[in-house]
Amino acid sequence: MKNLKLIIALVTLTSLISCNDKRKPQVQYMPDMYESVPYDANGANGINGKPVNREPVVGTLVRGGYPSYDIADTPEGYEKAKAEVLNPLEASEVTLEKGKVMYEIYCSSCHGEKGDGNGVLSQREKFSGIPNYKDRDINAGSIYHVIMYGKNLMGSHASQLTYNERWQIVHYVEKLRTDLLVQ
Ligand code: HEC
Repeated sequence: MKNLKLIIALVTLTSLISCNDKRKPQVQYMPDMYESVPYDANGANGINGKPVNREPVVGTLVRGGYPSYDIADTPEGYEKAKAEVLNPLEASEVTLEKGKVMYEIYCSSCHGEKGDGNGVLSQREKFSGIPNYKDRDINAGSIYHVIMYGKNLMGSHASQLTYNERWQIVHYVEKLRTDLLVQ
């Protein structure tokens, strides 16, 4: 008999609880378990109310991308490039061969195949003042700078050449210059 009363009491209690108004929130124990606080890194409030710095880390490169050239097109920029900018490529045979191919497409019409300034456009007097590389105090940084921005009558070649092609040409121009100097 005792058990029957207990069962009746339990059934009544359970039905009372289950008949609660579903539209109202129920009492929650440990509410964080139900409603976690999502961190929206791109949200206006950032994480824990602190704004998130979404700028990539300085020096980060896009996969497959190359560093931007942020030296100014000024005489000071030219000197800075000469003093600081180094060729990231090794002067391997392959690099020099590729540099030669690109040089002969883009540069030799003025500068000549040997870099002595005796290209077709120079011979036909279409351009004046094309130097012999051996007469210029140039290095990898300054050559790259001049490819990027041009110099006086020489125009920029940045848009015609990829990052690697420019540096391959730089190696090749330095080789031509060395050859001219030893002659
Ligand atoms: C349309 C003709 C022409 C073409 C094409 C040309 N150049 Fe020049 N380049 C010149 C002239 C002119 C100068 C002299 C600029 C000056 O110092 O007044 C020069 C100067 C230079 C110098 C010496 C700059 C210095 O610092 O004194 C370098 C290095 C050079 N060119 C490299 C190149 C390379 C590499 C290419 C090919 C990507 C190229 N040039 C294509 C005409 C040309």
